[in-house]
Formats: sequence, structure tokens, C-alpha cells
Amino acid sequence: MELGGGGESATKRARLSSDDAAAAAGEDRLSALPSDVLVLILLKLSTRAAAWTSVLSRSWRQVWALLPTLSFDETADPGQLRDALDGHEVSVRSLLVGADGAAAESLGVWLPAAARRVSGDLSLYSYARVEEDEDDETPQSGIFVLPCFEKATSITLFLSFHGVAVPRAGVFARLAELHLHRVWFHGPGELGDAVSTPRCPCLQRLTVDDARGLADLNLAIRSETLLEVELRNLCTLSRLTVAAPALKELAVVLCFGKNRPVANISAPRLTNLDWGDEYDPSSVHFGKMEHLRSLSTNSYLVYANYAFIHNHFWLSLLQRFEGIQTLSLMLMYLRDIENYQYMMEYLTVLPDITFLRLRIVANGHAFEASAFHILRLCTGIRRLMLQFGLEVRTVCSSDCICDQQPADWETEELLLNHLEEVEITGWTGSEHEVAFMKRLFNWGARLKEITVNFCFTTSEIKAKELYQIFQSFCRSGICTKFYLYQKKRGKVLYAPDH
Ligand SMILES: *[C@@H]1O[C@H](CO)[C@@H](O)[C@H](O)[C@H]1NC(C)=O
Repeated sequence: MELGGGGESATKRARLSSDDAAAAAGEDRLSALPSDVLVLILLKLSTRAAAWTSVLSRSWRQVWALLPTLSFDETADPGQLRDALDGHEVSVRSLLVGADGAAAESLGVWLPAAARRVSGDLSLYSYARVEEDEDDETPQSGIFVLPCFEKATSITLFLSFHGVAVPRAGVFARLAELHLHRVWFHGPGELGDAVSTPRCPCLQRLTVDDARGLADLNLAIRSETLLEVELRNLCTLSRLTVAAPALKELAVVLCFGKNRPVANISAPRLTNLDWGDEYDPSSVHFGKMEHLRSLSTNSYLVYANYAFIHNHFWLSLLQRFEGIQTLSLMLMYLRDIENYQYMMEYLTVLPDITFLRLRIVANGHAFEASAFHILRLCTGIRRLMLQFGLEVRTVCSSDCICDQQPADWETEELLLNHLEEVEITGWTGSEHEVAFMKRLFNWGARLKEITVNFCFTTSEIKAKELYQIFQSFCRSGICTKFYLYQKKRGKVLYAPDH
């Protein structure tokens, strides 16, 4: 990957210019040029080709490091990188380093120099293999200190659980975006302190995804400027405080692990909340959120032991908010439900919404009754997104208790008179899916548009079959679109040849 240059033509130019340079090498006329002129020449090359020019002559040696955008996605010698960055004062608008340049030992060498030069984006990508072992107490690969980037506006670290020591002092004066993935936080500096307004006065977007080393961490973020915060898979968080008067979007998903979640969220302008952790109203405090429009929650177990507290917490989260427009829910059937009780009857009210995103993880059980139960509680919806889970699709045994779910979905007439648009993902054409869709066409008399995304393992041959079956029961006059996933092209519109 050569991000700094223009592919083939850059290579061609590199060849030409190295010919010129070789011709000139005798008297080294090039070296007599001012370095800003040399930079103009190098701008035509990729970073790698430009770095190569450093073998041409003494004064070329560090000129490439004057380029406004640099990318190293292959072998990069950390010492050379540091010296080149140290050799100049001109700002670097964008610096991308991958491969061994992003190894922990290497970062320790050149990052301080980068902190002085980078005025725009810094991106580090480490692709090293990661052993999944959550109990492991130490970082997977060395520890480096994140220097204070006083001029950078955006930092993205995509690491392999390197130990990152957050600096204890210093101001990230212009930083607007900070995205940290697969990072192992290492003291003594604290993340919350580093991203709060006194030390990050411009921060608008913060992502921390898949982090380790935060055991018993009290993460406190106090920011006047943050607009979006996304915390995912922190696993061992013990306490979260967010005080952010401008915040619009907050996601907290799988952060507390086995700990009882303790949180105080004060974000009066919040519009989108994704709370994918337990919600215990006695320990999780949401301040006033009068602008909330979208709420996303974790799963509700369709079959559970009544005493199972999780479902009760889930219900109280839903009751906490009024006037939201978009609701994302997940109905979950455990594989083995033999000794459990049907829990849908405890769910009696939903907020008055216009868009429902319903994820269903059925684990082979019949899900029509519980999905119908949900729709009956939100007959005002205009849009419905049905997402079928990615679990291994098994079929439950013939005497499974899921047979005993209420059968009113088969006969009851439900008026979904506002429903105009349905999108389905993960469609496999199973008996339950088809049965539910047939009924949905009945309930949604004004349905105008339906999009079906076949399950991503669906082959082209299978897609044709699923397409024909779907068309055979789809009400005429509805605009339909089908999408198929292909390994190389991703999601593509499926158009059968007749
Ligand atoms: C939560 O934080 C707000 C503001 O940061 C504070 O006023 C309030 O007392 C806190 N609530 C609890 C229960 O700690």
C-alpha cells in the first residue's frame, strides 16, 4: 500500500527522476537547489520512492521528510525516521505508519520527533497477531509513552495491545479526534484526565475500542467540546463519569464486564444513546436527556428465569425515556430454554417511535411470537429494520418449548398503517423468516419499499432461489431490492437474469 503517491504514474515518475538524478550525480546540481524546490519534486513521488532519493546525495537525504504527507506501510527504520523528522521544522499534515514502524520499541524511538512535526493526522496501524487472553495481566508487546502532540488535530492508533502510557502532563492543544483501538493502557497517566478539557480543549470525537489494562479504572471524562464518545469492549471498567454539556452521541457497549456498572452521565444535549451494558438504575445515573432521539440497548432474553435481573433492568431502561424516535432492540433466545419462562408478557409498553431496528438472535427457535409482540407495541412505526443474527443456524428439537409461545401472530390483525419501509439483513429464507414476512405483508397495508440483504454466506445460486421464493409471496406494487455479499466486491445489488 502506497498512500503517499499516485500508483503507477508515481512509479514511472520515480524512475524518470532517479534517472535525472543519476545523470546529475556527477556534479550534484540537484543538491544545490533549495530544499523547498526539492520538496516540490518529491511531491510527485510516493513516500517510499521519495525516501529512496535519500541515497542519491547528502542534501537529498532528509528532504523527503519535508513532505506534507508521509506514509510508511512497510519496513521503516525507526532511527532513520526519527532523524528525518528531527531534521526539519516544517509541519507534517499527515503521517501514517504501519508494519514494524508501529511496533512498540520502534514507536518509542520516533514518536517524540513526530509529536513536534505533525500538525494534522497521525495514524498508526499494527497488524501483529493478537493472542486472545483476557486474563493476561501484561501488555502483549512492549510499552511506549504517547508523547503530547501539541499540534496534531487527529490521532488514530490501531495497535496490537501495545502498552500505552498516557502522558501525565501536557496539552493536546488542537486535537479534535482521538481514536484508540486495541490499546493496553499503562499508568501512571490517566486517560480521563488526558482527554478532558484542561488538556484537550478542542476534542470533539473520542473512540476507545477493545482496550485492556483499565481494571478497576475510574474513567472520568469532563469535556466542554466533546460531541461523540464511543467506548466499546473495555471489559473491566468499574466506574464511568461523563460530564459533557455539548455531547450528542454516546455509546457504552460491553465496558463493565463482570463489574456492576457504576456510572454518572451528564449530557443534557445528547441525541443518541447506545447503552450496551447492564442498566441498574440504582448505580447508573443519566442526568436530564431531553433531546434524546435514538436509543439502543443490549439484549432482552425471550426465555429466562423470572428472577434473572437483567431483563428487569432492560425494561427500566426503556421506561426511562420518552419521546424518542429510533429504538434499537435485540431479542435473544438462548439455545437451551427448557427450564425457562416466556418473558415477553412483562414487556407491556414501548416508547412512541417511528423507526424500529429489531435484531433477532433466535438460535433455531421460532421467533415469530416475540417479534409480533414487539410490533404490537409500536404500531406507529414508519420504518422497520429486521436483522437476523449471525449465530449458527440450528433447528431446535421438535418438542422444544418454543412451540408453546402464543400463536396470536398467526391470526390477529395488526394495523401497521404508517409502515412504509422495511429492510431485512441476514435473510436465509428459513421457514420462520418466511412465515413472519408473509404476516408482515398483511399488517403493513401501506408498505412501499422493501430491501432484503441476503445472509452474507449466501451463494449466487442460493440467492436466485431465495429471490424467487420471496417474490412468490411478496405483495405486488412494493418496490423490492435485493443485495448479495461477494467476497471481493462486498455488498452488491442482486439482479437475477431471467
Ligand atoms: C452526577 O454528576 C453531576 C454533574 O457532573 C452531579 O451534579 C451529580 O451530583 C452526580 N450524581 C451522582 C449520583 O453522583
